[in-house]
Amino acid sequence: MSAARTHLSSTTVFHGALVNPLDLHSYQALPHALLCVDPYGDIAWIEPHVPDALVQDVMARKGLVGDDVQVVQLKKGEFLMPGFIDTHTHAPQVPNMGAGQQYELLDWLENVTFPMESRFSDVDFARHTYKTVVRRVIDSGTTTCCYYGTLHVEATKVLADIIHEYGQRAFVGKCNMDRNSPDNYVEPSAEASVQGTKELLEHIRGLPPLTSPRPAHDTDRSQLVHPILTPRFAISCTSPLLTSLGQIAASDRSLRIQTHISENLSEIAFTKSLFPECSSYADVYDKHGLLRHNTVLAHAVHLEDEEIALLKERGCGISHCPTSNFNLRSGICKVGELLDRGIKVGLGTDVSGGFSPSILAAIQHASIASKVVSFQHQPGHAIAVPHHLFVNHSPLANKQLPIPALLHLATLGGAQVCDLQARVGSFAPGKAFDALLVSVSSAAGNPAVWGVEVDEALGIERGMGMSKEQHLERMLEAFMFCGDDRNISRVYVQGRVIGGKEWAASQP
Ligand code: GUN
Ligand code: FE
Repeated sequence: MSAARTHLSSTTVFHGALVNPLDLHSYQALPHALLCVDPYGDIAWIEPHVPDALVQDVMARKGLVGDDVQVVQLKKGEFLMPGFIDTHTHAPQVPNMGAGQQYELLDWLENVTFPMESRFSDVDFARHTYKTVVRRVIDSGTTTCCYYGTLHVEATKVLADIIHEYGQRAFVGKCNMDRNSPDNYVEPSAEASVQGTKELLEHIRGLPPLTSPRPAHDTDRSQLVHPILTPRFAISCTSPLLTSLGQIAASDRSLRIQTHISENLSEIAFTKSLFPECSSYADVYDKHGLLRHNTVLAHAVHLEDEEIALLKERGCGISHCPTSNFNLRSGICKVGELLDRGIKVGLGTDVSGGFSPSILAAIQHASIASKVVSFQHQPGHAIAVPHHLFVNHSPLANKQLPIPALLHLATLGGAQVCDLQARVGSFAPGKAFDALLVSVSSAAGNPAVWGVEVDEALGIERGMGMSKEQHLERMLEAFMFCGDDRNISRVYVQGRVIGGKEWAASQP
């Protein structure tokens, strides 16, 4: 386990292009922003428009002079954006990516997933695997991640230790599973499951905190890695187990909860048969005290109307996992409708139901999913609304999700889902600097992103008469749809570089 991390040595000021989500309907594209990060990795201030010639003046006005200020000048083709938030993934399933897409959920769990997860009883196997998993997730641009481990306490402690050592922000849970699971991959009793959960909570809470002047009682500020209750899904938990987990939750309002809901029709039917006293799938969790403002519910593909109303009332967040929902033929989550109804939504990769650890893939599939919903709603009558006619706060139900909404899902929406919107998801004074330095230049090595060089080689500043803002918006869209980890030069969490292509190149 690593020692307590010290704060950064200096104040850092970034100058250059910056993309900043504001809400579901809008984001800022700032070609010449100046953003200051304090030595603790929090954002001190942002000046939105500072031409090159005025950088030193503005810094002097802010009292930033001398050697302990580091200035990072972004190059052409680079921009900063908030780090991605993956609200749902399974670390032990990464070795299974790209396997088993012929199955639907329940057969896939039995034939593909549980056999792999059972291997994590071997702590050496877990350590080896989780190191590569966490590295890969970070380099994909995920700065905050909600991880499921396996049911094993020791292996999940190792997962938390590695995340802590690598400096990612995360929620880590061990699966609770005391029934309807294979003999070699099931917990012996509800009591054993609860005991293991408590042991993991204690372990994660005992990880060395960040050094910071912030109040120690605010663990969202003093810790990057947090525990999260993880009843796998209603099918794998007896009612006494869910009751005990509800009691643990009741004793700590800040403890996050994650589980699956309404992913697949056979799963829903089985759940209802197991809990005949409950009026719906959501009611199972509600009756056990597991639905609240910091509950992360993955999938939500087939929710009934009353369930949506209940989730809204309880303040739960939804993890939209479109890659997985397509891959396991689960269906399509009606994200636009949930958003219109005021429900918090973020994106999840749901590896290995989903076959990519990258939130970029989730963005692309969320876009396609919303377009499929729009075809289904108006077969043959899809009216293409020109982008400039999108009005603020126009309803999203049954429409394709525009770029600001997709960006929101990947960042600020995800932060809201894991109740971290005060810390991450966008750039604002007082929030943590969790960011990606994106490069869309050809030097990044991804030919799918048509960068900035061709026009430049011909002596054209920006093609097709675009303003600098429009050009930055164009680069963002190109990154979202054609980008991959080659375009992620640096990954920052709490002001520290913890990954990215440039970081990897600098490692011994
Ligand atoms: N439901 C219960 N467990 C799982 C899982 O591992 N993946 C998905 N997609 N759904 C689940
Ligand atoms: Fe899942």
